[in-house]
Amino acid sequence: MLFSTLLASVALSAFESCLAAPSAMNRRTVTTLSTAQISSFAPFTQFARAAYCDGFKDWTCGAACDANADFELTLAGGDDSDIQNFFVGFSPSLNSIIVAHEGTDPLQIESDLTDVEVLLGSLDTSLFPGVASSVQVHDGFRDEHAKTAKAILAEVETLLTSKNTKNVVAVGHSLGGALAELDSLFMALNLPSGTNISAVTYGTPRVGNPAFASLIDQHVPAFKHINNEKDLIPIVPGRFLGYAHPAGEIHIVSPGNVVACSGDDDATDAQCTIDTVPNIFDGDILNHLGPYEGISIGTLAC
Ligand SMILES: *[C@@H]1O[C@H](CO)[C@@H](O)[C@H](O)[C@H]1NC(C)=O
Repeated sequence: MLFSTLLASVALSAFESCLAAPSAMNRRTVTTLSTAQISSFAPFTQFARAAYCDGFKDWTCGAACDANADFELTLAGGDDSDIQNFFVGFSPSLNSIIVAHEGTDPLQIESDLTDVEVLLGSLDTSLFPGVASSVQVHDGFRDEHAKTAKAILAEVETLLTSKNTKNVVAVGHSLGGALAELDSLFMALNLPSGTNISAVTYGTPRVGNPAFASLIDQHVPAFKHINNEKDLIPIVPGRFLGYAHPAGEIHIVSPGNVVACSGDDDATDAQCTIDTVPNIFDGDILNHLGPYEGISIGTLAC
């Protein structure tokens, strides 16, 4: 599972801060989010939460499903072990197609084994057409993403037509956030130009190398990855292993105090995760589950 995974790379993460001394030269500003901006994320937080909750396959998963009561679920899958749970559908109130992936669950050891490696590998160009082999991602995330990619793409294509919308949002928490990040690029490369693809992810580990992060920045400019307080998952796998986050970090500094970070992963924004959690020993794994502005995510938060 993700935690043990990440622990594999963790010992070395202690060196991260040495590699990234803050520099006044490239310090960039952060923007404090308004209450309205903060609350605009809540529907996506609830979708990410719902992917963990029994009953999501017919949208009867309790509070997380009720929070998006008008959601029209059209595809649901996963088996809690070999394939992470996922769903696709249409939200009339958001006028968006939603693609959601479940994350890792501490209680489900088997699914944890999907990401015991931190090796970088190239993307499959049959799924990511035209992407150079120098663009590399965590091979466990890549292989997990590939299991559901084509079914999700076909469903999104159907909904783009039948719902007469151009908006697609990929969401997920933890490993599910990594899968959503991959999905956002995958969809950007495979759906018609003019499709508005964004992503909102929570407690997401680093997914790929700097070349991959740049492709996300280029193809999914509205990408947002939300990090809660001192969650340490967003700082692993370490940059010294060749990993990098794309831009678009939103950091919950403390409840009600939320900033948008202008930087990507360069440790220059004092209110953002990389300076707040310079190494895993300064992190708090409990913060991984939230609450993300009042909403906790995970099997124990259904
Ligand atoms: C793109 O989709 C997002 C999420 O649904 C939405 O907030 C945004 O307004 C959309 N942009 C356009 C130009 O429609």
